[in-house]
Amino acid sequence: MKRPFAMLAATGHAVPKRVLRNDEFVGMGIDTSDEWIRERTGIRERHIAGEGETLTSISAEAARLAMKRAGVTASELDVIILGTASPDRLLPATAVEIQAALGATRAVAFDIDAACSGWLYGIQIAEGLLATGGYETILVIGGEQLSRIVNWKDRNTCVLFGDGAGATILKKSTKGRGILSAYMRSDGTLADLLHRPKGGCLAPVTPEIIADGSHLLTMAGREVFKNAVRSMADASDRALDGAKLSAADIDLMIPHQANIRIIEATAKHANIPMEKVYVNVDRFGNTSAASIPIALSEAQEQGLIKEGSTVMFVAFGAGFTWGSMVVRF
Ligand code: ACO
Repeated sequence: MKRPFAMLAATGHAVPKRVLRNDEFVGMGIDTSDEWIRERTGIRERHIAGEGETLTSISAEAARLAMKRAGVTASELDVIILGTASPDRLLPATAVEIQAALGATRAVAFDIDAACSGWLYGIQIAEGLLATGGYETILVIGGEQLSRIVNWKDRNTCVLFGDGAGATILKKSTKGRGILSAYMRSDGTLADLLHRPKGGCLAPVTPEIIADGSHLLTMAGREVFKNAVRSMADASDRALDGAKLSAADIDLMIPHQANIRIIEATAKHANIPMEKVYVNVDRFGNTSAASIPIALSEAQEQGLIKEGSTVMFVAFGAGFTWGSMVVRF
């Protein structure tokens, strides 16, 4: 496979209607403040799914927008890949529910769990599938309903996350556009720093587990922070090396939106000025696998990415998983 082989034809996004502002946590009995959350994370508000808003419905909405923008119909989809850590049900995969919602009868659909790196992994898997020659049009979604798996009594985590979905149509490259370099890594020795300790087959749900909340997301924030900064710095180097480009060649950087301080550290390491870094963590919080495609969709809506623009993506998440990509649009 000679790159660019696959291009990101179009991206769309969708988020739940309900906006939860930082100051609302105090009224929910959580010992925190708008000031603490803004200063330590850069987050002001996030979207939280309400009644009837599911991962399937939000993802399908994002997918429909991406398909409209790409001029693709549901029957043209060959593959649907959903990156998520918060599926609607543990079985079957939520991707097949999205397939049914879209009426994408010809597609093969499956989930991947790479936490915040899910969309980035999905795009790289899709590129490989396109290269087999057996598929033409692939839908890659990053979608989450993290509000359903956070512990609303744990101030260390509940203020950080939000819900939403971003969806991208991948096709074979034309006119030299597409993925110039791609990189993926993981390190399972650090899995316990960000995980849901119980509730899986290792420790099936019991009333005790539900009472102590150990089926919910728990995180060693400071350790995750340090690893995120280190891994995203490494990933940005790899992406540039792989594309044989320098920081000056990058028109826009779209990093995973977890914390403004991680974003700034990554940009500083990569030598990319903050004016060239897309930031929306203030409005959405950390939407895990959805964060990069939501940001990409917004950046395109705002005209920040033109034909010929070179964009760098960098992700990091639970696992740990991390990766990067340079794409010419
Ligand atoms: N409000 C007020 N105080 C708080 C809050 C809160 N919401 N949360 C924590 N604190 C307190 C802590 O209890 C601690 O108090 P102590 O010193 O009395 O013990 C103090 O603030 C400092 O806590 P730290 O955890 O050291 O704070 P830090 O500056 O590291 O910020 C944060 C915490 C925001 C979680 C940061 O570590 C972070 O962003 N980590 C990375 C998260 C991330 O990138 N995740 C990516 C992957 S997510 C995924 O894959 C799903």
